Amino acid sequence: MRRIFTAVHAVLAVFAVATLALGSGNLFAQDAVPKDAPYKNAHLPVDQRVADLLKRMTLEEKATMLAGSGWMESAPIERLGIPSIKMADGPMGVRSWAGSSAITNAASNPVRVETTSFPSGVDMAATWDADLVEREGRAIGEEVKALGRDMILGPTVNINRQPLWGRNFEGYGEDPYLAARLGVAYIKGVQSEGVIPSLKHFAVNNEEFERHRIDVTIDERTLHEIYFPAFKAAVEEADVWTVMSAYNKVNGVHCGEDKYLLRDVLKKEFGFKGFVVSDWGSTYSTAPTVNAGMDLEMPGGPQARAMITSPRSIMSGNSGTWLESAKVLAEVKAGNITETTIDDNVSRILRVIFESGIFDHPHAGGGEVDTPEERAVALQGATEGIVLLKNEGEMLPLAAAKIHTIAVIGPNAAVARTGGGGSSLVRPKHAIDPLDGIRGLAGDRVKVSYALGVGMEGEDPAQDTPEARAKALKEATDAAGQADVAVVVVGRYNKLESEGFDVKTMDLPAGQDELIEAVEKVNPRTVVVLNTGDPVTMSKWIDQTPALLDMWYGGQEGGAALAKILFGDANPSGKLPVTLPKKFEDSPAAANYPGKDLEVKYAEGIYVGYRYFDTKNVEPQFPFGFGLSYTKFEYSGLQTSPVKGGKGEWLVTAKIRNAGKRAGAEVVELYVHDGHSKIDRPVHELKGFKRVELQPGETKTVEFTLDRAAFSFWNPATKAWQANAGRFEVQMGASSRDIRLKGTLELAR
Ligand code: BGC
Repeated sequence: MRRIFTAVHAVLAVFAVATLALGSGNLFAQDAVPKDAPYKNAHLPVDQRVADLLKRMTLEEKATMLAGSGWMESAPIERLGIPSIKMADGPMGVRSWAGSSAITNAASNPVRVETTSFPSGVDMAATWDADLVEREGRAIGEEVKALGRDMILGPTVNINRQPLWGRNFEGYGEDPYLAARLGVAYIKGVQSEGVIPSLKHFAVNNEEFERHRIDVTIDERTLHEIYFPAFKAAVEEADVWTVMSAYNKVNGVHCGEDKYLLRDVLKKEFGFKGFVVSDWGSTYSTAPTVNAGMDLEMPGGPQARAMITSPRSIMSGNSGTWLESAKVLAEVKAGNITETTIDDNVSRILRVIFESGIFDHPHAGGGEVDTPEERAVALQGATEGIVLLKNEGEMLPLAAAKIHTIAVIGPNAAVARTGGGGSSLVRPKHAIDPLDGIRGLAGDRVKVSYALGVGMEGEDPAQDTPEARAKALKEATDAAGQADVAVVVVGRYNKLESEGFDVKTMDLPAGQDELIEAVEKVNPRTVVVLNTGDPVTMSKWIDQTPALLDMWYGGQEGGAALAKILFGDANPSGKLPVTLPKKFEDSPAAANYPGKDLEVKYAEGIYVGYRYFDTKNVEPQFPFGFGLSYTKFEYSGLQTSPVKGGKGEWLVTAKIRNAGKRAGAEVVELYVHDGHSKIDRPVHELKGFKRVELQPGETKTVEFTLDRAAFSFWNPATKAWQANAGRFEVQMGASSRDIRLKGTLELAR
């Protein structure tokens, strides 16, 4: 029955196309293409090439380009030499493109593409090192090319609004300024390799619960101040080539057919010139989707047809095949989509094909991946991203001379938990788990023992019986009791923390709190290490824990990075890109999560993360921007001065000194406080940061330039950014709650 329907459809489509092509009045369209057609000339400006190519295309060819031809390929037009854009998932490295997450991640999947597994997004955000993120983008771009692909589906710049989002590990944290800086850096890195990034997911995609059906109710100011800035910056500063729309609805409309989001904001307000690609299976109509500004529906072809008929997809709310050419052409014929609109869609795709260079220099593949340079970037990211949260009595770094035995314990100790689950999961060639890393650096000097302590919840049923649990716990306490130091590595894994569903609870998985408590009882010299992308509840053990590290999901080099930090071969410099609340209920979004009747009200508005905790005086477990070092930094001499000959910008400078005995790096944070605003504003907002490397005793001057945007809020009445003239306070510090220096400045009218 389905086959008959498809055949009838195809005949109708051909008929419709023939009629339309004839009626389109496009004289060039059917002509043979001369060898020297201007669009083939790499020396001509991109706009000219696009215009020339467009006028040679039939309407049918144009319509074909609006939907993919496979799971990860756009449609080629061979007659004109238009290549298919070959995509691969990301963003934490290049993921195999064999099919949906379910297929690609399945153990039985025969397609094994092994690439460098870079640290998770939240881990990279914890480095606060935009240069490093740009290098990571470049390294990933190199691997995309080496594999003969053209496009990487990342970065993810959705804000980590609340602790339970299954994809918090992919995001760059809770602050729009931080996410914007890192998103821009990643995109610049990828694009510098002639590889196409896809900035995702536009917009307000901050929970996985019913991700296709959930409707976010949100006001315009919050959109502009919290959820849009990373997208805006990527368009304005990096000229990002593609943006992926989100699954969810915003104010009643699916993002894929939201004219306000795609046309009015992204394309008009921000000036986006690239193309919008749908998230996989997130289209629900033909004309409304195209007219809203969707340029390319993914996936396409047989894979898309298989997807929409699979019971699993139907249940989750996946939908697609709406932009297949027959459907698009029928709407054009009916007058519901204009040819001008189709021309705009196609021009955008062509522009990216020319701009990226894939038309003139296709990526042939066959290159090397996981090169020493790429691995070095992954290791540096993992190392810089580790956050030292507690270090009583300077327990860390471990003095190898005094320590003879270390017990390494926990469900995340002897397995490399490189990332969370879903489409971002990368298969590395090799990965170093914490135990490997510690053994590698301890060498012969220190005896390293290992005990599981507790099985990872849901991973291995054999570990989940009362007997097995009692045995594992006893082995752990025995090992810890005999060791000079215990290192307990806890957290989640990619089946508990993943795309597709939210994390059940902020509490650690079953038995892990008890494991920490039991180990700490037998050995007070215990280091707890968190290996997870979401915040966790620590109330049961935090007061007894002398040393605490967060290594997030550190990618394939995570264990090596951890060992370097533990033994002091590297000095921790990571800072929290998210507030760690004491309990889930403290989160400003908790009262409105996951929503009611498939609607989630963003009632906290602009008060996300520290904007809420600091303004409303709610004590977090650890504040945004917090992270300790093995050395000490002193801040002094803050000065503000107007930039000479500038357009109202202000210069803020201060001195940072390494007052300790070890080399180290400090992330200096700059917040702006608006003391005279008539409208409600958070007590302060991050508007600058710098990671400064300092030798013992060394002093450096840090310099920040604040433009008007740094003082502005979004005025919903005028639908514009506004900075009120008057006195502002600038605050420089080591976290949102550790402000070391303050100054004032007078913003001119
Ligand atoms: C995810 C995207 C991903 C796409 C393709 C979707 O489920 O939300 O981030 O790029 O699948 O795998």
